[in-house]
Amino acid sequence: MDEFAALRWQIEIGADEAIAEAPVDRLARRETPRAVVPAATSPPPPPARPPRDARPEHPAASALRTVPAARRAEEVAAAAATREALRAALAAFDGCALAATATNLVFSDGNPESGLMFVGEGPGAEEDRAGLPFVGPSGKLLDRMLASIGLDRTRLLITNLIPWRPPGNRNPTDAEVAICLPFLMRHIVLVRPRRLVLLGAMATRAVTGSKAGIRSLRGSWRNVAIPGLENPVPVLPMLHPAYLLRTPGAKREAWADLILLRRTLDRDAAG
Ligand code: URA
Repeated sequence: MDEFAALRWQIEIGADEAIAEAPVDRLARRETPRAVVPAATSPPPPPARPPRDARPEHPAASALRTVPAARRAEEVAAAAATREALRAALAAFDGCALAATATNLVFSDGNPESGLMFVGEGPGAEEDRAGLPFVGPSGKLLDRMLASIGLDRTRLLITNLIPWRPPGNRNPTDAEVAICLPFLMRHIVLVRPRRLVLLGAMATRAVTGSKAGIRSLRGSWRNVAIPGLENPVPVLPMLHPAYLLRTPGAKREAWADLILLRRTLDRDAAG
């Protein structure tokens, strides 16, 4: 296995985050006792460092400085006063090369009035053909996951960070993400969801601005400020269904997140 293959494999199994400054050789013989009880005279421990993702700059802000088409996307998206206008603006937008190779724009599916919005990564081949998000293998799994907690597409709106299929299902580039993000953020502003579920690392990083790995962000709600909305939106990052198809062992975590989502929706409904 070459070093890039090894790295890709690690990322696929979820080891997408370094947790210490220096590598630890866990196979080396342990020379020191496991637990060291500090003596009464030990110096106080150094103050804890702030988490690496404390106060991140939102990617939408940094992209506007570095990718000219992202600035244009921001202006075009901001001018859309309705979801229909936003869809039309995206369909007419010529600032993202992905539009030229995609068969269809994939805007959304489901119920924009539901108060619940799901955001995935981007269309695959079947979504590209149908012009609808999550209709391929990972969409079928997502539908089963939703059904297991009594949800279906009449009870949520589903969209993607990237509305055009990248050729050959490659990952979108940072510039493509930067160009598409203003449209997603505007979509969120226009829908005003009470709750937002982010499927996978890419959507989570783009919307929250956090550099932390999805495995450490999933499992709890966090409030995220969305420029254009007065109040922060509660956001639940979850593992992406495509990842769950490749890594069935991770379904346990996904199930825990689904239960959390169900309980939260029930609590919301009870007022
Ligand atoms: N994966 C996504 O993130 N979105 C889709 O629409 C399909 C697969």
